[in-house]
Amino acid sequence: MAPGRPSDPFLYAHTTPGIVWMSQNTNHFPPHPAVMAALSAAIADERFHAYPFAPGLPGLPPAVLEDLGLASPPWQALLTGGGTEALYIIMRALLRPGDVVLTHDPSYQIIHHFIRTAGATPTDIPVYEGKLRYDVDTLQDHITPATKMILLIDPINPLGTGYRRDEVRAICELANDHDLLIVDDITYRDFAFEHTLTSEFSPERTLITYSFSKSAGLAGMRTGALVAQKELMDRCRPYNTNDLSINILGQVAALASLQTKAQWLPQVLAASRRNQALIKDAVAKVDGARLPVYPSSANMFVIDIADTGIGPSALQEALLYEDQVFVRSGSYLSKTFGERFIRTSFSIPTPGVERFCDAFVRQVQALRR
Ligand SMILES: Cc1ncc(COP(=O)(O)O)c(C=O)c1O
Repeated sequence: MAPGRPSDPFLYAHTTPGIVWMSQNTNHFPPHPAVMAALSAAIADERFHAYPFAPGLPGLPPAVLEDLGLASPPWQALLTGGGTEALYIIMRALLRPGDVVLTHDPSYQIIHHFIRTAGATPTDIPVYEGKLRYDVDTLQDHITPATKMILLIDPINPLGTGYRRDEVRAICELANDHDLLIVDDITYRDFAFEHTLTSEFSPERTLITYSFSKSAGLAGMRTGALVAQKELMDRCRPYNTNDLSINILGQVAALASLQTKAQWLPQVLAASRRNQALIKDAVAKVDGARLPVYPSSANMFVIDIADTGIGPSALQEALLYEDQVFVRSGSYLSKTFGERFIRTSFSIPTPGVERFCDAFVRQVQALRR
């Protein structure tokens, strides 16, 4: 940390106007008018005085299931405080000390923390080289009698890699053959060019974690869901702390966003894809920088800067404190590979991406000196 700079980048970013927010894969496009209208009406009606209907805003759990094509029993949706809480509930409910979960590195580390909190161990199979996702042919080599679960993040945060249908099928076959649960973390599903749910091949073993944070752009609402068949859901429910349901405004916005999804999703995808192309052009201007995955199947990817000779933390700092552009150093996403990359998301209005592109080229040059 350079002297005189704030010690907490998040405190700085949250208290400084005009930050270009590319650090958390959030979506900063203007919401659909129906979402704003539903939120305004809920506030005007002061719906926040009462606890919400405990099973969830009428219509919302079925709309989540409908969105996944899982509208009929035994599928159920439990509303949670973001996909994060769904992940926590799953790990607490279904893992025991000594269990092992197939995971990869780099990854979204909070899930690995939840696994450890349950006394279990993540395998952290290295995937930064090669296919940049699980190699299904060798995944089997990591299975032991202690293995209980596969964590499938599809598409992957931070890499932006997605899985083909035949790969999802093969992963499900492994789970079926070795009696493993599958956590299908579909936080970035809507951004993918193609996506297959594990529920298709392994319905009784699948736990889907669902998020309104990314494509719907409601991260601050902390709204998500756990989706599973009745039997697995019954095992998870005792660990649900939302006896009184989750935030009503988040639920209202989530329902309105699902009801209008066909109207806003194409624009979000088109703009995100244009934005990632702009970043690709900027990366091409910098010697030693490259995109391991392009195009990304998500709303983020990593920029490998190992050959620039610059550390990602120094670059994160320079971009944030000098240009007010907030990206994430790889150290947050991988102990092994984190010194090699920054992660940047691009589901934000294009002027912010242009600011990043300009600042990235300039700051790498400046730091090299
Ligand atoms: C892979 C993955 N899973 C889950 C989450 C949690 O999302 P949320 O709790 O906002 O729904 C994130 C957030 O960045 C993520 O990257």
